Amino acid sequence: MADNLGLLSVLLCTILFQVSLAVGNLNVEAFSNGSFSISVGGKQWFRSGSVGVRDLGRWWSQEDGSLELTGSGQSEGVINVGPFTSYYYEWQAKGASSLTLTTTVSVFEQMPAVLFVLVFNDKATNTSSNVNSTLSTFPSFVIEEGPVDRGYVTWSGNMARFMKIDRWSPDVPIYSNIDGGLPLVVYDSVMENAVVMAPASDFMSANQATFNNTTTGEKTLAFGPLSSITEIPAGYVCSMVLVAGNNVTDSMMQFGNFLKTFYKKDESYRKSDFTINYLGYWTDNGACYYYDTGNYSNYEEVLDAVYADAQTANIPFRYLQIDSWWYYKGPENGVKNWTAKPSIFPNGIEAVAKKTGWPIEAHNRWWSPVTDYAKQNGGKFEFIVESEASLPVEEEFWDFLFSSSKETWNLLVYEQDWLDVAVTRLQALRNTVGLGRMWLKQMGAAATRYGLTIQYCMPWPRHLLQSVEISAVTQSRISDDYTPGNSQWQIGDTTILASALGLAAFKDVMNLRLLHSECTLNSIVLSIICTHVSVTRYIARQRKAKQT
Ligand SMILES: *[C@@H]1O[C@H](CO)[C@@H](O)[C@H](O)[C@H]1NC(C)=O
Ligand SMILES: *[C@@H]1O[C@H](CO)[C@@H](O)[C@H](O)[C@H]1NC(C)=O
Ligand SMILES: *[C@@H]1O[C@H](CO)[C@@H](O)[C@H](O)[C@H]1NC(C)=O
Ligand SMILES: *[C@@H]1O[C@H](CO)[C@@H](O)[C@H](O)[C@H]1NC(C)=O
Ligand SMILES: *[C@@H]1O[C@H](CO)[C@@H](O)[C@H](O)[C@H]1NC(C)=O
Ligand SMILES: *[C@@H]1O[C@H](CO)[C@@H](O)[C@H](O)[C@H]1NC(C)=O
Ligand SMILES: *[C@@H]1O[C@H](CO)[C@@H](O)[C@H](O)[C@H]1NC(C)=O
Ligand SMILES: *[C@@H]1O[C@H](CO)[C@@H](O)[C@H](O)[C@H]1NC(C)=O
Repeated sequence: MADNLGLLSVLLCTILFQVSLAVGNLNVEAFSNGSFSISVGGKQWFRSGSVGVRDLGRWWSQEDGSLELTGSGQSEGVINVGPFTSYYYEWQAKGASSLTLTTTVSVFEQMPAVLFVLVFNDKATNTSSNVNSTLSTFPSFVIEEGPVDRGYVTWSGNMARFMKIDRWSPDVPIYSNIDGGLPLVVYDSVMENAVVMAPASDFMSANQATFNNTTTGEKTLAFGPLSSITEIPAGYVCSMVLVAGNNVTDSMMQFGNFLKTFYKKDESYRKSDFTINYLGYWTDNGACYYYDTGNYSNYEEVLDAVYADAQTANIPFRYLQIDSWWYYKGPENGVKNWTAKPSIFPNGIEAVAKKTGWPIEAHNRWWSPVTDYAKQNGGKFEFIVESEASLPVEEEFWDFLFSSSKETWNLLVYEQDWLDVAVTRLQALRNTVGLGRMWLKQMGAAATRYGLTIQYCMPWPRHLLQSVEISAVTQSRISDDYTPGNSQWQIGDTTILASALGLAAFKDVMNLRLLHSECTLNSIVLSIICTHVSVTRYIARQRKAKQT
């Protein structure tokens, strides 16, 4: 990525230009004075708002002249998403801040995409402000009533499952908390044209926000790093992409193709993922044996019985998922260490792995402040430790965790759950630019080394976006936990986001506990049958069963 974006910064030579480039239904006009205009389907949809940045505890902006355009130019190049024409601009803060910025607007020739890049040439300090916003505004788009009615749709919240849908209008706020608002799809009422607007790098630190100028009344939508971030190092690159298509799904697929190509997401990991290709036995929330060993005294006995039943009834389970009930937790239930309690697995997970031959998908959550792995607690690895959570910050930790688990008990898929809570519990993930990306990339790189894949669970949209840089992440949960009567079956909307990004959308377990009060073989068999019928039929059956 850094290499790719580096290609876009070129030597400055100031020339006057006013150019227009069109691909598909997208047309981009750029001016040497720093402004741009974007038309979709032949109509102007967006014109640029003011460029601004926070440094030394205040804003420096084009609008009031405290940020000045000192040069602009034009160049061409080719990267893996194809040939592009780039317009670039140099900016200088005036007064106490000596910050300089470079911005580029790059229009691609073979994809209906425009990439906006902001480079902090100098360090910016005391950048944070106490709102869900951004600490810079490039690009920014004036929000005005269009020549055609437009709407927006975006994803938010736990599992990225809450859709925010509204009119695109200066009177309507655009959803932009840390838990959502990315990507943002703007579409016209006839659904013939749509654009996706989203960060294109360092997704865990990026945000979108609306700004109101109370003097002029102008409202803008801007992209930039999260406003909770306290400083930006010199050389930091922040980028955003706008991709056009014909409707919401189509523009999302085009957007996904842009990012997957840009980051070389290797989709062969998803295609060959064993757990995506075969049936597995799950023990998570909603399943029979979730924090419940039924008539058995420990999980080794439970899983022995499940295995025996499956053999007798010829149920082709090929792997096993073990949920959060097996490892050691600290106060407030963060992970103390990722090893099995003897009360749960008297002979270790390895006894079950050996007897069943099933590879294992294993659950994990956020790390406790008291985790045994952190140097601060006498462990071997570098962690950031805060009062509510901690975070590993060296890849060797993941090498250790994955290699030992794979060797001793046949770990195959690492399920990283509570992804959103990891961010809400750990301030460093909100304040430190690049930290979230580093955490997830280290986890992913180590997984790849040991032949493992990763399932994300409880992601926000930003986690799903970040996975585009991590080929080991093949799948994600996209709806709530299985509880009869809740909306966990409602997976269509978030599947658009997951599949655009190359992820298999995982709906979670099926369990007919309502039909059968006990976790008997019959209920397992019915669960299997149900995985082959449509979700709708299943729900209908369940409703009927409830009524009778
Ligand atoms: C830049 O030039 C364009 C075209 O002349 C104009 O529409 C726009 O308002 C100008 N922008 C600024 C910031 O002066
Ligand atoms: C940072 O900026 C805020 C204003 O946003 C100011 O109150 C504070 O004193 C500044 N802190 C430092 C260390 O300069
Ligand atoms: C609002 O716009 C005016 C005129 O362009 C500018 O001077 C002022 O700084 C802006 N206000 C904010 C809060 O950006
Ligand atoms: C900006 O305007 C929108 C829409 O009118 C409004 O919902 C929002 O509260 C305003 N934000 C601020 C910070 O004034
Ligand atoms: C900021 O976003 C968080 C997470 O969605 C939310 O809980 C909080 O209320 C928001 N704060 C403001 C001031 O809108
Ligand atoms: C969305 O656009 C694509 C590409 O033009 C098209 O194939 C598809 O049929 C459209 N979907 C709907 C529901 O119109
Ligand atoms: C995990 O935590 C338990 C409970 O505190 C402790 O007995 C055990 O030694 C720990 N294991 C490792 C590998 O740190
Ligand atoms: C527990 O054992 C009882 C008596 O044998 C049986 O009726 C029941 O179905 C069993 N429950 C489970 C969860 O296996």
